[in-house]
Amino acid sequence: MRAGGLVLMPTETVYGLAADAANPRAVAAVYAAKGRPSFNPLIAHVADVATARRIAVFDARAEALAAAFWPGPLTLVLPVADGEAVCDLARAGLDTVAVRAPGHPLAHALLAAVGRPVVAPSANRSGRPSPTTFADAVEETGDAAAAALDGGPCAVGLESTVVALLDKARLLRPGAVTRAEIEAVVGPLADAEADAKRSPGRLARHYAPNAPVRLGVAEPAPGEAWLSFGPGGRGPWNLSPTGDLAEAAANLFAYLRAADRTNPAGIAVAPIPDDGLGEAINDRLKRAAGFVG
Ligand code: TXA
Ligand code: MG
Repeated sequence: MRAGGLVLMPTETVYGLAADAANPRAVAAVYAAKGRPSFNPLIAHVADVATARRIAVFDARAEALAAAFWPGPLTLVLPVADGEAVCDLARAGLDTVAVRAPGHPLAHALLAAVGRPVVAPSANRSGRPSPTTFADAVEETGDAAAAALDGGPCAVGLESTVVALLDKARLLRPGAVTRAEIEAVVGPLADAEADAKRSPGRLARHYAPNAPVRLGVAEPAPGEAWLSFGPGGRGPWNLSPTGDLAEAAANLFAYLRAADRTNPAGIAVAPIPDDGLGEAINDRLKRAAGFVG
């Protein structure tokens, strides 16, 4: 990694395609491997809060959120403090930087060993579901990686929550830490602005399998694969037979991929409650179905 190679890195959320954040050539290789537009900035991953404070300007709200949720599945968008440690290309030229300290022990060990911030977008090719298993990560972008770390299946299965602390605290991407958990620390969250500059990653069609996706389906049509949910669900892809949202989040991307591999006429998804983690699950599902969130 220090020499500019890319590494598939497990995190508690999803697998990332990781590179030295200070090396523009390595960062360019990450964008190329994903087929990601270079106006969509990357998250800098750090081993600890002390490293985060060197690259980003922390205010009292950032300190409180980091204390509450790091290491863990929360990303903070803050004013940039060191534009070299996280290069311009990684930030897509913005004067802000997204930073998170992941909770996965293998990610932490890698970050501590490398000793500098590491960018790691989800390891999928752009617009595809994020990989939550080692095999899926290798299938997506393994060709571009010099090394790959097998950390087993990702415990959370959904990407980190992204909160911007530039003016008001804003929720840019719902995720593994729920809105209510964030609001308990910093008070009410404003929504992401429609302004694309503030939330460049929020493309309407994203996380999409090949088959068309239909949401809120209580009974699938013939030929459709069904992602069911709860005690009434049937078939091989019940996101959670007990109706547990954390279990559904952990299974979501892997089941979307597994269903898609059977080349169904479509993928029908059962209604998922919108409370707690359900907000992030429904956000990803709407994007998989091609609706603007
Ligand atoms: O859970 C995760 O966050 C995973 C794992 C690997 O850590 N990573 C991940 O990265 O989901 P990625 O690149 O797929 O998503 C990063 C999101 C994008 O929506 C991007 O637009 C947003 O963070 N982002 C990054 N920097 C930003 C910035 N300066 N301002 C606003 N949004 C930013
Ligand atoms: Mg992604």
